[in-house]
Amino acid sequence: MHRDIAEVLFSEEAIRQRVRELGRAISHDLAGREAVVMALLKGSVLFFSDLVRSIDAPVKVEFAWASSYGKGTESSGEVLLKVFPEEDLRGRMVVVVDDILDTGRTLSAVVDRLRNELGVTDVRTCVLLDKKARRTARIEADYSGFPVDDVFVVGYGLDYADRYRNLPYIGVLKPGCYGA
Ligand code: PRP
Repeated sequence: MHRDIAEVLFSEEAIRQRVRELGRAISHDLAGREAVVMALLKGSVLFFSDLVRSIDAPVKVEFAWASSYGKGTESSGEVLLKVFPEEDLRGRMVVVVDDILDTGRTLSAVVDRLRNELGVTDVRTCVLLDKKARRTARIEADYSGFPVDDVFVVGYGLDYADRYRNLPYIGVLKPGCYGA
């Protein structure tokens, strides 16, 4: 285990199993239709790459960059939407994939934009972690991997100051490592 990690919350194996279950649930709901699966950079990339391989249906992949945290542990409150797909998404089914649903501001902003500006009528959301205690926006994910307490988690795409994303498991960062 990495020396900055206090505790492993979700092991590689636990993540692998849960991602397969999420992929099966999405495949079932797609019922053979083609979906656009859209990763929110950067945190979701590991989850996304495993998830799309667990979906047994035709998919196209797209990427968007929605950032609100900067380099600290607290959200600035502003969601910056930096990149959106160039493909016309009107009338498509879009599954937005993110690593963690925290305050919900990011996902809300993305879903609103897909619906209101890009004409997507069928938006689904899939997150690996759900930190309900921190929610301020009115949003719940359609597919959610694990509930998580209000602790600072890193690994499997989740970062602190862009570090730890490559850990294959999800763990609690030692408070001393982020100045708490
Ligand atoms: C993180 C995470 C989610 C968002 C969740 O992204 O990946 O997108 O914050 O927080 P919220 O529910 O309070 O909006 P971040 O902005 O840190 O960018 P990153 O994915 O590049 O790490």
